[in-house]
Amino acid sequence: MSLPKINPTKTEAWKALEKHFQETKMLQMQDVFSKDPGRADRFKIEWQDFYLDYSKNKITDETLSLLINLAEEVKLKEAINQQFSGKKINETENREVLHTALRDFENTKPEVKATLQKMERFSEEIINGSHKGFTGKVITDVVNIGIGGSHLGPEMVAEALQFYRNHLKIHFIANIDGDSVAETLKKLNPETTLFIVVSKSFTTQETIANASVVKKWFLKNASEADIEKHFVAVSANVEVAKEFGISEENIFPMKDWVGGRFSLWSSVGLSICCSIGFNNFEELLKGAFEMDKHFKNEDFNKNIPVVLALLSVWYNNFFNAESEAIVAYSQYLHKLVPYLQQAVMESNGKSVDRNGNKIDYQTGTIVWGNVGSNSQHAYFQLLHQGTKLIPTDFIGFSEPLHGNSYNHNILMANFFAQTQALWEGTHAEKVENPFKFFEGNKPTNSILIKKLTPKNLGSLIAIYEHKLFVQGIIWNIFSYDQWGVELGKTVAKGTLTAMEKNNPSLVKNPSTRKLLAQFLKKSQ
Ligand code: F6P
Repeated sequence: MSLPKINPTKTEAWKALEKHFQETKMLQMQDVFSKDPGRADRFKIEWQDFYLDYSKNKITDETLSLLINLAEEVKLKEAINQQFSGKKINETENREVLHTALRDFENTKPEVKATLQKMERFSEEIINGSHKGFTGKVITDVVNIGIGGSHLGPEMVAEALQFYRNHLKIHFIANIDGDSVAETLKKLNPETTLFIVVSKSFTTQETIANASVVKKWFLKNASEADIEKHFVAVSANVEVAKEFGISEENIFPMKDWVGGRFSLWSSVGLSICCSIGFNNFEELLKGAFEMDKHFKNEDFNKNIPVVLALLSVWYNNFFNAESEAIVAYSQYLHKLVPYLQQAVMESNGKSVDRNGNKIDYQTGTIVWGNVGSNSQHAYFQLLHQGTKLIPTDFIGFSEPLHGNSYNHNILMANFFAQTQALWEGTHAEKVENPFKFFEGNKPTNSILIKKLTPKNLGSLIAIYEHKLFVQGIIWNIFSYDQWGVELGKTVAKGTLTAMEKNNPSLVKNPSTRKLLAQFLKKSQ
């Protein structure tokens, strides 16, 4: 059974939405709350520690019901069931998509259990100091060497859960930029550092090159036999990891049904385990599992990922909004946006539909943002008074982790005030000066969470994973492949060969050829 392949623009619901859009697009909704006192109660979803308020959106009850009709017409429910039951919905790579199986505590796959046990044993030995380095010292630093999905998730979670961290220092080497590698190595002692080489394919140029540089650095002070105490790998390509010099017992396997950008729940999360301990890692998985059940079982109108996805489709395809911002009012979440950029844009940046046809409607949104309140002093001007429509998700927590309620109240007052100011503007006031006029009518979603715990973070990440899946289903694209990153990799290989041969003429494009000639002149 394969995913439904329905062109959304040909559905009855889409046609009805187009008509509805023409009727409602000019609505100025800034004072809708005074006309409709029940609105804030109707357009909200309360679930466990989460409270989603989506009442400050350019929608009416009819909009929501038409969007739900669209989800039904494109057979979203069937697609969700196919994903969870392990059908090969990543058709262009002929793979199942089962990151949800990594956190399924009711039907745990034996191989998932075995890997989790191995992660638990190993991370405990690193944390409690029973695993010693080659000179008998305990491990003090852990370095994750990996890029893309093998970096962004672990780093985002390790940063987000900093409050729960132990004594180990965690570092990330991702960029092939040698300066960045050197800066990290400067901080490390080979005797007390553990390197985790993370690459699902174990062929990613940046990761393998960086791991080789690090290994060379390590071997300046140690012998080949010492490698096993300091290098472990996470990969689906065990043979190549072994060829790199990592012993089989030091390889944490991953399955090809785990996509890179959805892999933090797998052995890719080993650096997270070392950093916050296995129990907290398990809590993270449990939070995602809870959200999986909500997503799978809840009606669409009370389903957080579904509602967020439908709102995003509404703005993307009817209002022609090109981007959406995400602003987390928590410094701990400062890596959330880069993480989501890969998850969302690598998944839904597609222009061919599931039938193989060129698409004539908009797909993947551009995701950007940063943390609040910093963002208010950077790009919020454009949100308030710019010409572009940028729907924005605000994420915040009711309780601070350090108990500093003075700062926390100021932080969250800004969160609430910004969503209100964006929505209401100054339209109801008499503002003589046009430069000081705020139009309002700017949509936001507010995701208010009780507290930043490993469990709640797991649920939050899973919300966005499922949201992007719903969007991909509606847009009739394959969200789980990433062919678009391959061409650049191939061209880079050819360019590197031309560099190594000191021969720019091997490059066809005249602009690139001249750039290369200039580079080679300067670098000699
Ligand atoms: O270049 C894109 C990509 O394939 C991502 O999808 C993936 O997360 C990343 O590269 C790293 O891949 P790997 O884990 O195989 O090194």
